[in-house]
Amino acid sequence: MRIAVGSDHRGAELRSKLIDFLRQLDQVVIDATENASETDDYPDIAEAVARKVSSQEVDRGILICGTGLGMCIVANKIPGVRAAPCFDDLSAEMSRRHNDLNVLCLSGDMVAEKLADRIVEIWLKTPFEGGRHARRIQKIASLENRDGNAKE
Ligand code: RB5
Repeated sequence: MRIAVGSDHRGAELRSKLIDFLRQLDQVVIDATENASETDDYPDIAEAVARKVSSQEVDRGILICGTGLGMCIVANKIPGVRAAPCFDDLSAEMSRRHNDLNVLCLSGDMVAEKLADRIVEIWLKTPFEGGRHARRIQKIASLENRDGNAKE
C-alpha cells in the first residue's frame, strides 16, 4: 500500500517511529511532513495528506497530532476522506470493517509506540465488510455531492 504520513510537532516522535514500522511491513511511505514548508500547523499537514488520499495519489493516510482530533476535523473536510482517531484495537478494527476508514488519526500524546504499531497493523490488515456498510458510506459521499464538494 502507498501510505502518506504527516504530523505536527506533537506527533513528530511517533511519526518517525511509525514510518520505520511501516517500512518494516513493506509499505510504501510518503512522509508528507518532510517536504512541508514553513509551518507545522496541523490544518496544513492534514490537508496535504487528505488531498493525496482524495486524489488517490496514495491508498491511505496517517495523521498524528497531540490528540489526533484536530487532524481528524481537517481531514474530513476533504472529499472522499473518512478520517477518525483510533485509540485501541477495537476502534482500529471497526473503523475498517464498518467505516472503510482511509485516514487514521493518532494521538502523539496519548498513544505509545507499541500500541500505535498494533493499531496501525490492525487498520492495515482489516478489510471493509461492504454490504449494508457500503450503502452507508455511499450516503456519506452523497452528502459531499449535495453540498457541491464532490471528490477531486
Ligand atoms: C498543537 O498544540 C495541538 O493543538 C495539536 O497537536 C492537536 O492536538 C490538535 O488537535
